[in-house]
Amino acid sequence: MRGLIDLHCHILPGIDDGSPNLVTSLELARKVVADGIDYALLTPHHMNGRYINHKADVLTLVEQFEADLAANGIPLKVFPGQEVRINGDLLKAIAADDILYADEAGHYLMLEFPSDSVPQYANQMIYQLVQQGITPVIVHPERNEGIVDNPSKLADLLKLGCLTQITASSYVGVFGKRIAQFTVQLIKAGQVACFASDAHTLAKREYELSAAYDKLTAKFGPELTNCYQENARAIINGEPVMLNWQPIKRKRFWLF
Ligand SMILES: [Fe+2]
Repeated sequence: MRGLIDLHCHILPGIDDGSPNLVTSLELARKVVADGIDYALLTPHHMNGRYINHKADVLTLVEQFEADLAANGIPLKVFPGQEVRINGDLLKAIAADDILYADEAGHYLMLEFPSDSVPQYANQMIYQLVQQGITPVIVHPERNEGIVDNPSKLADLLKLGCLTQITASSYVGVFGKRIAQFTVQLIKAGQVACFASDAHTLAKREYELSAAYDKLTAKFGPELTNCYQENARAIINGEPVMLNWQPIKRKRFWLF
């Protein structure tokens, strides 16, 4: 598979937990290309309590990395982005022009929640983002315990106009059966816009994007794979994406 777009990865050197240095980043970039990816949005963590990566710093580093890729003959087109953790200062950071979006025009924001829950204030804040013309793309909702326990929390965010990006390795099964099964539920319910790698150098965070799309094609047919890839393309180009989704019924464990 060639021509894939990856909307979420941590391969910039020395900026977060993705890659410690340029040698590792170039090695990761070669793996990206080997996995069939031609375009990658580079999304270092931002405002997640551990990493602050200001817009200006990311822009400079991506420019440098572009030159390093070219100097090493690695045919990967990269774009500057951020994986932004939802936080009380997000609207201020947006007003201060310190946020990078998935697209140049600022329509799509790769937005992360803490892994254990959906914060109380999330819906209100997301409502305000949507009012400003910003569509949050919720990254890896399948790995959020609050959403896995209660999928209606994600449905509420979709109702507000959010999109979702599933981590490829979740679908492939790297994070265990429960997360893989929940990913399938989300796919069946039409609640997924696309896959992305979320690649780090960490164990379990290798490139699985083409494997995930191959599995999707085998289980659900090529139309859905084409649709996800078209959605990824639309997101990076700032074009409209519509999801035709259904609610997920909560499992009634007490019947067993
Ligand atoms: Fe990430």
